Amino acid sequence: MDKLVICGGNRLEGTIPISGAKNAALTLIPCALLTEEPVTLRNLPRLADIDGFQHLMNQFGVTTVIQGTRPQDFGRVMSLEAPRITSSVAPYDLVRKMRASILVLGPMLARMGEATVSMPGGCAIGNRPIDLHLKALEAFGARIELAQGYVKAMAPDGGLPGGDFDFPVVSVGATENAVMAAVLASGTCRLFNAAREPEIVDLCNLLSAMGAEIEGIGTSDLTIHGVRRLHGATYRVMADRIEAGSYACAAAITGGEVFLDGARADEMHATLTALRLIGVEIEERRGGIAVHADGPLKATDLTTAPYPGFATDMQAQMMALLCRAEGTSVLKETIFENRYMHVPELRRMGADIATEGRTAIVKGVARMTGAEVMATDLRASFSLVIAGLAAEGETVVRRLYHLDRGYERLEEKLQLVGADIERVADD
Ligand code: EPZ
Repeated sequence: MDKLVICGGNRLEGTIPISGAKNAALTLIPCALLTEEPVTLRNLPRLADIDGFQHLMNQFGVTTVIQGTRPQDFGRVMSLEAPRITSSVAPYDLVRKMRASILVLGPMLARMGEATVSMPGGCAIGNRPIDLHLKALEAFGARIELAQGYVKAMAPDGGLPGGDFDFPVVSVGATENAVMAAVLASGTCRLFNAAREPEIVDLCNLLSAMGAEIEGIGTSDLTIHGVRRLHGATYRVMADRIEAGSYACAAAITGGEVFLDGARADEMHATLTALRLIGVEIEERRGGIAVHADGPLKATDLTTAPYPGFATDMQAQMMALLCRAEGTSVLKETIFENRYMHVPELRRMGADIATEGRTAIVKGVARMTGAEVMATDLRASFSLVIAGLAAEGETVVRRLYHLDRGYERLEEKLQLVGADIERVADD
């Protein structure tokens, strides 16, 4: 296992290439199940979760080919082909390692008329139920059975007849599963209060390129007219708006000036608004976003919400930045029940944070000191890196497998802009 050793104090300056979006890639990859023809995805990030999903697809008989990319390049091209499916079961030992595996349920049901997926357990940030995934599929005409820790979904002969489902809670994954199940239905499926995240738009754009008929893309009301078959496509994964926001916070806490190459401002409005309120200069340019922080950081209140609101996946990173702002910030986490695990670790670096339920009160401090800290979940881990970049002395971040799930070659990207950060083996 590795660890990161960071010596804080360097001002970040230069250009950081932004990779393809993890949370888009994890819903685009299972789309290959929906056709016998090749689906080629470009700009896939090199991440542990992507490798895991590739392995899961291979279990179903899907062939995957990584096409010519040099080791030093960021991102890669993957072609997936599923002329026939040899298994419609996603086993526990794979699903437990990567909860996004649940996203094979909808497309496998659409392709095979049945799918059996191990129930994903909870995770560090919450118990993460999948009831909405199952209710949406049932609304479209699927029969659902739960047994021995597995979900089995079955469609009537001839495919899902279609139907309507109104989400009581906005759910990204349940929206994705429902859309992927609906594209091959024998009837029309309508979703209300569906998630509107850019990753859902990316999914709908790929499915449309494959021949799906989807109306209302980008809105919370989606209508999908089932078609008999889909064809292959080549598609470029969107830029990772959360990775871009994470590096923006890293640049800001060091008083730096960084260009986020490939970032899309139109997908990051709430994050950029928050940064501007904190006093960070943001300039939207062709091909990316310039971030410049040379003045004092100001305390700002933030509440997470479904897109287009402030992203829960940016909460930990913004908290780390606000630890160095002048004044007191109030953060409210409305999406997940346990997404403050970065707080005790930030406190060990000198942060002044009090939490009560889903509210965190962050009082800015003049200085933070490096410490040995432990990563607990993906975004919390990055908040510790952000704090370490501005802390006095050395910060050691352990359990890097959390970071490697969602940030492509993080230490190389930070070294590009002058960070004193090394990845070393952890004895
Ligand atoms: C996706 O998770 C993302 N993961 C998460 O990113 C992200 O935080 C989350 O959406 C919210 O934006 C991927 O895309 C792989 P939800 P997902 O279903 O789909 C409740 C990261 O750091 N809910 O929108 O699991 C749920 O408990 C990860 O990259 C139900 O009650 O999130 C939560 O409170 C972390 N029943 C809320 O809805 C369900 O059936 C939102 O969850 C499903 C969800």
